[in-house]
Amino acid sequence: MIQLKNVSKSFGDLDVLKDISIDIQDNEIFGIIGQSGAGKSTLLRCINGLEDYQSGEILVDGTKVSTKDKKALRELQRGMGMIFQNFNLLERLDVYDNVALPMKFWGMKTNTPEAKKKIEGLISLVGLSDKIHVSPRELSGGQKQRVAIARALVLDPKILLCDEATSALDPAITREILSLLEEIHQEMGITIIVVTHQMEVVRQICERVAFIKDGRVVDIGKPEELFIHPKKDVKSFLHQDSDLLPEEGINIQLFFTDESADEPVISQMARELGIDFSISWAKLEDFRSHVYGSLVITIDEKDKDRVTAYLDRVRVLWEVL
Ligand SMILES: Nc1ncnc2c1ncn2[C@@H]1O[C@H](COP(=O)(O)OP(=O)(O)O)[C@@H](O)[C@H]1O
Ligand SMILES: [Mg+2]
Repeated sequence: MIQLKNVSKSFGDLDVLKDISIDIQDNEIFGIIGQSGAGKSTLLRCINGLEDYQSGEILVDGTKVSTKDKKALRELQRGMGMIFQNFNLLERLDVYDNVALPMKFWGMKTNTPEAKKKIEGLISLVGLSDKIHVSPRELSGGQKQRVAIARALVLDPKILLCDEATSALDPAITREILSLLEEIHQEMGITIIVVTHQMEVVRQICERVAFIKDGRVVDIGKPEELFIHPKKDVKSFLHQDSDLLPEEGINIQLFFTDESADEPVISQMARELGIDFSISWAKLEDFRSHVYGSLVITIDEKDKDRVTAYLDRVRVLWEVL
């Protein structure tokens, strides 16, 4: 659905996107994560043609994104809804008119029976039927984002772009908004790109994710692959640098998946090998409802070979830190 081929972009001397290549499939929920300033928003703005890029190519559903042909660009943008951190609603309009705004922009009538059905249907989909003639001023953050989602869907886009859409919301409301996006994804079969600096967001809904650092794609894959067994840059993004671990002894990190997470590997190993060790760090997380875990044990130098042989035998993935 979206192909980025060696895309680079700079603002003057500042290289913001460097040789970015990503393929996003039709009907995928794809995450783009990275620190503030990494270039995520710029990347999204290049995809929907709000920004130009200097080299490489971006194709959306087979059509090249270019700011040269204004008419073609407008047509392309019509097929892409977008939501933002600060909702961007017009306070002088009520919920209905905010949702209807893109139709107005395209010169479509918003008070015909079909238009009404469409707009009211979307407002009901996002759960705001009782707020239809209320001003955004009277809505909570989560409700405002619901209005923005309905508005982004009013022209039946094939793609929904979300730029830090939950970053201004508290964790419970964030989960509700993400569930709503999942529901929309399932019902309408649209492709969703989620740009965020929040790991929880990627964990809850993304099927694949690209980790961006200083304008480059550092890693790309399933969230559980990136975050349970992270590369160096991802590790420091997650604040999992090893400086909190004991300096004496050997630290071994173990990785558990859905299947191995409930096996009593640790206690069995201690019993079978007759050794003592300490658990220095651990976490258990769920990715789209699958549980993955990771654990660091600190062992004696002399036990290293036996421990690693044992872990290989019981098929637990490990790494010496
Ligand atoms: N219009 C612009 N002009 C100049 N520099 C910009 C502009 N927009 C973004 N930048 C710079 O590009 C870099 C990436 O910004 P951005 O894409 O907003 O990152 P992110 O969304 O990951 O926080 C930052 O260093 C930012 O200051
Ligand atoms: Mg941004």
